[in-house]
Amino acid sequence: MKVCGFVGSPRKQGNSDILVERFLEGAAASQAVTKKFFLADLNINQCRGCYANCMFQPGFRCAVFRDDMDMLMDEIASGDLFIFASPLYCSCYSAIMARFFERLLPFWHVEPGDGEPGTPGAFRFLNNPAKGKKAVIALVQDLKDPAVGKLALDIFEHNVAKTYMMDIAGRLQVTDVRSRGDIVKKLTVLQDVFNMGKKLAEDS
Ligand SMILES: Cc1cc2nc3c(=O)[nH]c(=O)nc-3n(C[C@H](O)[C@H](O)[C@H](O)COP(=O)(O)O)c2cc1C
Repeated sequence: MKVCGFVGSPRKQGNSDILVERFLEGAAASQAVTKKFFLADLNINQCRGCYANCMFQPGFRCAVFRDDMDMLMDEIASGDLFIFASPLYCSCYSAIMARFFERLLPFWHVEPGDGEPGTPGAFRFLNNPAKGKKAVIALVQDLKDPAVGKLALDIFEHNVAKTYMMDIAGRLQVTDVRSRGDIVKKLTVLQDVFNMGKKLAEDS
């Protein structure tokens, strides 16, 4: 059982980072092997939208860039459970998380389908190494009103569940956290996050 956490904040020991660490500690308590990826520290080039090797080639490798996405896609392909955590930035998840998601497109392996272009039937799915794997999405935000981050969380969920076909095992939103480490004061939240990591790793 391998559990991977992806941090979409640029702040080390920030609220997203601490949340991911607590989830992974819970998973480790269920004997999972855990790995944390601090995306801002990694070499992840911006997708150029060339479609050169995405989708129609097996092997989930971008044709253009040899960077840390090769390693990250291998980790997802061989992992069992994931947590993706981001701060709410300008009403969306962070650009760091967005860049990472955009570069996961080579996971799709499709061939032309019978449907009209622009409809889901235009492609026939052959493979996606992420498909059906369990994932938790987590968003942390300054403002107290959860409605402020709802759209972002919905888009976050859509990308993980629909675009990359993972099975959403949890949806976390932590409000009223602004400065680095504010989340530490939320003892119940962090205990729940630990318990979620432990339970999901146990069940997987
Ligand atoms: C550029 C930027 C944009 C932000 N936009 C929002 C926002 O739209 N709504 C909100 O509630 N908080 C917003 N925040 C606050 C962060 O979500 C908050 O500080 C969060 O706890 C940071 O998470 P981290 O500690 O993991 O970096 C923003 C912060 C920054 C730096």
